[in-house]
Amino acid sequence: MDKLEERLKNESGGKILDVATGKGGFVERLTGLFKDFDSILGIDPAANRIGEATAKLAKDNIQFAVMNGENLALENDSFDTVSISNSLHHLVRVEPVLSEMKRVLKPGGQIIVCEAFSDNQSEVQMSGVLMHHWWAEVDRTQGVSHNDTYTRQSLIDFIRPLELEGLEIFEIQETDRDPRDEELAKQLKQIYQEYTAKVEAQPQNAHLIQKGRDILARMDKIGFLWPTELCLLGRKPT
Ligand SMILES: C[S@@+](CC[C@H](N)C(=O)[O-])C[C@H]1O[C@@H](n2cnc3c(N)ncnc32)[C@H](O)[C@@H]1O
Repeated sequence: MDKLEERLKNESGGKILDVATGKGGFVERLTGLFKDFDSILGIDPAANRIGEATAKLAKDNIQFAVMNGENLALENDSFDTVSISNSLHHLVRVEPVLSEMKRVLKPGGQIIVCEAFSDNQSEVQMSGVLMHHWWAEVDRTQGVSHNDTYTRQSLIDFIRPLELEGLEIFEIQETDRDPRDEELAKQLKQIYQEYTAKVEAQPQNAHLIQKGRDILARMDKIGFLWPTELCLLGRKPT
């Protein structure tokens, strides 16, 4: 059990909103984090991702909708829990999304932000940071909003202005993965092929192919672990 599970296992999630839900990875996690919950709504502007999440996870009390986090078509003060996971670095503008998350949260409701950060990582985790930054660089060549992951302090600086009560900040880190996990290495090589295909027809971005190859070589040499995530939890003042 990681620290987030430990922290939430005795709480009710109530009515939950997950922002930038993507294919629903964090919604799946949310269903097992709390003692119980009433409903989850996952939103994301990418219709194809919402389609995948719906096909995989939707049921009576778990729903998904195409919506931009900068402009939530949702009532003020209407959710008990509002979350965002590993998506701040995908946003064109972070502040308007966080401000909307706070607006739709009930007074006393809880915000959960979890995000991998780029500094204070081990050498093996730096393989994960560099790989992620390479994906982001390739995505940007395709016009997709994907920044490098933020530093630990930048994440705190994003959340402080929300003036949440009882702000808790803690880290979660994979503890049980083998840095030489062959299955993961195989998946990462597959993703490398997919990302390389995006830039192959663009001579101005050909240098990215070698850059990605160098990161794979680093992974083969020293191993790979995902970077540590920072979790920030706090409540909207009553
Ligand atoms: C890494 S993915 C989501 C990961 C997911 N939260 C999880 O933990 O499994 C990042 C998502 O941010 C979404 N996104 C980008 N800009 C957004 C915005 N303005 N509002 C809401 N979501 C946004 C993207 O469409 C993408 O699906």
